[in-house]
Amino acid sequence: MLRSNMKRRKPLIAGNWKMFKTCQEAVETAQHLVKLIADNTTIDVMIAPTFTSLMPVSDVVKGTCVALGAQNLFWEPEGAYTGEISSAMLVSAGCSYVIIGHSERRQYFGETDITVNKKIKAAIKDNLTPIVCVGESEKERESNHTFSVLDKQIAKGLEDLIPSDLETLIIAYEPVWAIGTGKTATNEQAQAVHQYLRSLIEKKFGNNLANSVSILYGGSVKPDNIKELMLMPDVDGALVGGASLNAETFSKIVLGF
Ligand code: 13P
Repeated sequence: MLRSNMKRRKPLIAGNWKMFKTCQEAVETAQHLVKLIADNTTIDVMIAPTFTSLMPVSDVVKGTCVALGAQNLFWEPEGAYTGEISSAMLVSAGCSYVIIGHSERRQYFGETDITVNKKIKAAIKDNLTPIVCVGESEKERESNHTFSVLDKQIAKGLEDLIPSDLETLIIAYEPVWAIGTGKTATNEQAQAVHQYLRSLIEKKFGNNLANSVSILYGGSVKPDNIKELMLMPDVDGALVGGASLNAETFSKIVLGF
C-alpha cells in the first residue's frame, strides 16, 4: 500500500478500548479487525482491551499486523498489591505496549506525574513500549497554561530516564477537552503542541531522539479527520478511544491516510 505522507517515523494507530467489551465481544471485534486490515504492512496497529480480555485477544492477533497493549500497570514486579498487575504479567499475556498516565487514570484514580514515572520505568525494564499520555484540561488551555502543563508532565513524568529509554517510548498528546467530546483539536493546534513536545524532548535528550520519538494525537479521532491530522509533520499516529470499539470504523482509520 502506498501512502502519500509516509514519514521517517513509522505511524502507529492505537485503539484504547477503555472499560468496554466482555471477553467474547473483545475477541469478536479483534477477529473482525484482523480480517479487515489483513493487507496492512505499512503502519503499526495496536489494540488495548481490558485486562480480562488480554489473553483471549492475544490468541486472535498473534501472527497478524495487530499488536496487543494494556491500559495500565503497577510498577512493582509482584507482591501483596491486591488488584494490581505487573509489567511481566502483561508481557506473559502477550502485550508489547502499555498505556500509561491516561487522563482518566489521573482524574479518577489519583495518578500523578510521579506514579507515571514509576510505571514508565517498570514498563521499559520489561521491554514493554510505554505510551505516555499528556495533555491539558479545557480550563488550562483557556488560561494559556497548555505549555506549562506539558512542561511539568514531561519533566516529572520522564524524570531520570536515560536516552536509551527514549528509543522505545511513545508520547500521546491527548487534550482532555477533546476526549470523548467530539471536539477534536484543530490540525494546527495538534501540530503546535506536538512540535512543542518534540522541542522538550530535544532539550532533555538531544536532537536524534527528538526526531525519532513518536508522538500520537488522541481525542475524538475518527475516519473523517485522521487524514488531515496525519498530514501534520509532527503527528505520528493516533490513540483512538470511541472510534476504535467498532472494527469497521477503526479499520477505516487504520487504512484512511
Ligand atoms: P476518544 O477517541 O473517544 O475521544 O478517546 C480518546 C482517548 O482517550 C484515547 O486514549
